[in-house]
This record gives sequence, C-alpha cells and structure tokens, in this order.
Amino acid sequence: MEYQTIKGEEVPSLGLGTYRLTGQTCVRAVELALSMGYRHVDTAQMYDNESEVGRGIEGAGVERGEIFLTTKVWPSDFAHDRVIRKTRESLKMLRTDYVDLLLMHWPGEGVPLEETLGAMRELQEDGSVLHIGVSNFSPSLVGEAAEHAEIFCNQVQYHPYRSQDALLEQAREMDYLLTAYTPLSRGGVQDDSTLGEIGEAHGKTATQVALRWLVQQEKVSAIPKATSEEHLAENLDVFDFDLSDEEMRSISSLSR
Ligand SMILES: NC(=O)c1ccc[n+]([C@@H]2O[C@H](COP(=O)([O-])OP(=O)(O)OC[C@H]3O[C@@H](n4cnc5c(N)ncnc54)[C@H](OP(=O)(O)O)[C@@H]3O)[C@@H](O)[C@H]2O)c1
Repeated sequence: MEYQTIKGEEVPSLGLGTYRLTGQTCVRAVELALSMGYRHVDTAQMYDNESEVGRGIEGAGVERGEIFLTTKVWPSDFAHDRVIRKTRESLKMLRTDYVDLLLMHWPGEGVPLEETLGAMRELQEDGSVLHIGVSNFSPSLVGEAAEHAEIFCNQVQYHPYRSQDALLEQAREMDYLLTAYTPLSRGGVQDDSTLGEIGEAHGKTATQVALRWLVQQEKVSAIPKATSEEHLAENLDVFDFDLSDEEMRSISSLSR
C-alpha cells in the first residue's frame, strides 16, 4: 500500500468503494478486502449498507485505528440537527466511535454551507469525526466551504476518460485529498487498447494501469468497488510498478 500525505496525515491511496454492495455480499467483500490488505473503506448514508460495512470491518478483525473509514451525508439531511442525528446513527451501524472522514455527498440547495459544515465541526469537536470534506464540489464551491471548515477531501468522478485538472491543482495548493470515484469508469477501462498496451509492458492489466495512473498522482486516492476476490486482488496489486512520465501523459490524453 502507498499513502498520500494530507495535512500531515497519511491516507491509504487505494480504498474499497461500496456503492451497490448490499447484504451478505457487502459484509463478505469488506471482510475479504481488509484481510487482503485494504485499509480504506468508502460508504455513505445513502448506500444503505453501513451496517454491513460495520459487520465486515468487525469480521476482519483488523484494528479500527488501521482503517481509514469514510461516510457521507445526503443533501436532504444537511440541516444542522439531521447532520448530527444521521451521523450518530452511522456510527452505531458502522460499530465504531468515529469515522475518519465525513463528506457532504453533493452540493445542496436551501441549507447554507455554514449550517451543514458547522454541524460537522461539532461532530469533529466531540471526536465523532476526524476530518471533514465534500463531494462533487467545483473548485469555487470548495473555496466557499473552506471558509467554514478545514476541507480534508473532495471526492469526485475521476478516471482516464474524465480529467480533473482544475481540482487537482486546487488539491495541491490547499493540501486536500482528491478521491477518485468511479475510477474504473464502472469497469469500462478494462478493454481499453492504450491502457492494455501500457499494461503489457509492465505485466499488468488495463484496469491496474488505470488505478496506477490515479494513485501515482500527488494528493489522489482511488476507491474502486469490487465484489469478487479476483477483482479485489487485481485492484490492490498496483504498488509494485511505476508508470513513466510519458505513459502518465498518454493516459491523461485519453480524456481529450
Ligand atoms: N461521491 C459520489 O457521489 C460517488 C458516486 C459514485 C461512486 N462513489 C464511490 O466510488 C466507488 C467506486 O465507483 P463505482 O462503484 O461507481 O465504479 P467503479 O469502481 O469504477 O467500477 C465498479 C465496477 O467495476 C467492476 N470491477 C471492479 N474491479 C474490476 C476489475 N479488476 N476488472 C474488471 N471489472 C472490475 C465491478 O465489478 P464487481 O463488483 O463485479 O467486482 C463493478 O461492476 C463507489 O462504490 C462509491 O463508494 C461515490
């Protein structure tokens, strides 16, 4: 595993996404991932799987302090009291005293950023949340959010077909984590000929090249979702090779 350093703290560059993982399949995927060496798990109140994620973490027997755990508040719960209540419910379901990162899942309407982020700061002050972040925020909205809380992360769609140059530059300037969701373009990268050719030179698959391209960038983490043992293992196996500057550039050009 490699880490990104954000505000002096190390965050595992690769995590497990859990959107659409439910029931026993979710419990098993989380447990299996942690047993293989994953140390970063992404869920959300909207995914309706926090209980299963919590059971998976408990089942794996990995010390809680070793895991970077993220959940997210949905915009309909952005009012102060709902942020507090929903997040306390999350902690119960996740069977933990704290999450490492709490995100605003999407920009909202109606509730001022100050109110939502103020509630998140209260949760941070009492130790229920270690870091605060946002998701699907533009650079200017991140700037606004930063007036009300220290922003640790912005989670956005990022993969070889979707560039994020402005946010990347901002992440480096402001020292926040840019977490790439849908990093495999929902499985769409696996047949890409450019990624496949680059992979051949390294003895890796197109999917592994797409993930390597993400985690090799400063301040970037990726959270591929996978269900099978084979996919989980393939996605984790991206830390024993480096892409050259030229390979990095040719992958970046796929989005243009
Ligand atoms: N903040 C947001 O608004 C937001 C939005 C979307 C997603 N997310 C987060 O980001 C995570 C990842 O995004 P995503 O789930 O949309 O898409 P993704 O990770 O890009 O793709 C997941 C799909 O790729 C397949 N896959 C996984 N590993 C593979 C491999 N090695 N080879 C071939 N196919 C592979 C999976 O199949 P199997 O499951 O069958 O293995 C699944 O169908 C989500 O789970 C969620 O945690 C956040």
